[in-house]
Amino acid sequence: MMKTTVIDETEMSPELDQSIRDGLCVCFSPDVEVFSKTRTWHGSAPAWSVVMEMDGKVVAHVGIVDRKIRVGDRFLRVAGIQNVFVLPEERGKGLCDAVMDTAMVEAAKRRFDAGLLFCVPELEKVYARVGWKLMPKEDVVRIDDNGAEQKLPAKNIAMFFPLKVKKFPPGTIHLRGNDW
Ligand SMILES: CC(C)(COP(=O)(O)OP(=O)(O)OC[C@H]1O[C@@H](n2cnc3c(N)ncnc32)[C@H](O)[C@@H]1OP(=O)(O)O)[C@@H](O)C(=O)NCCC(=O)NCCS
Repeated sequence: MMKTTVIDETEMSPELDQSIRDGLCVCFSPDVEVFSKTRTWHGSAPAWSVVMEMDGKVVAHVGIVDRKIRVGDRFLRVAGIQNVFVLPEERGKGLCDAVMDTAMVEAAKRRFDAGLLFCVPELEKVYARVGWKLMPKEDVVRIDDNGAEQKLPAKNIAMFFPLKVKKFPPGTIHLRGNDW
């Protein structure tokens, strides 16, 4: 039977951490070096995670980072989506929609201003299906590992999810750190 759980990072067990990382290694094979050790990406660890488990194995997952970004002259607290995966044998069944929905219900409960994610353009339709909106990526500034301001990687688009903030304010979106 499939079970969906929201886990705060303070409650994360070593067994669940391992099962999530096993899935990450399968679904992001070029990054096995990272995910065999940690779920942290570009220095950002999740504040909470949503997992779907079947027979004790994580089959779908999303991590959510808690970040205070600056947009124009105001600060927004965003729920940043990272490390989304559905194991290959479970794809095409709506599990991605289910974990993304649960993640944003939890973000609303935790009073976040908005959700924010970066992905390849092919996935825009997948996230748009559950309420995410495309935004101008040219406006996003991140800080790389050397402390230098950079644009988003060319292969990525940016999308947001309205929570308390229904429309993304105008102006440069400064991530005040690297992307996630
Ligand atoms: C992204 C993912 C979670 C979506 O779950 P899913 O159950 O496959 O979702 P869907 O059934 O709606 O299908 C997703 C669509 O995106 C495509 N797609 C999935 N991952 C893709 C990727 N990395 N690059 C390009 N296209 C991708 C699929 O081919 C499919 O397209 P189609 O509907 O035209 O056939 C899952 O495909 C996955 O784990 N992919 C590998 C990890 C990954 O890329 N995560 C996203 C990081 S932002």
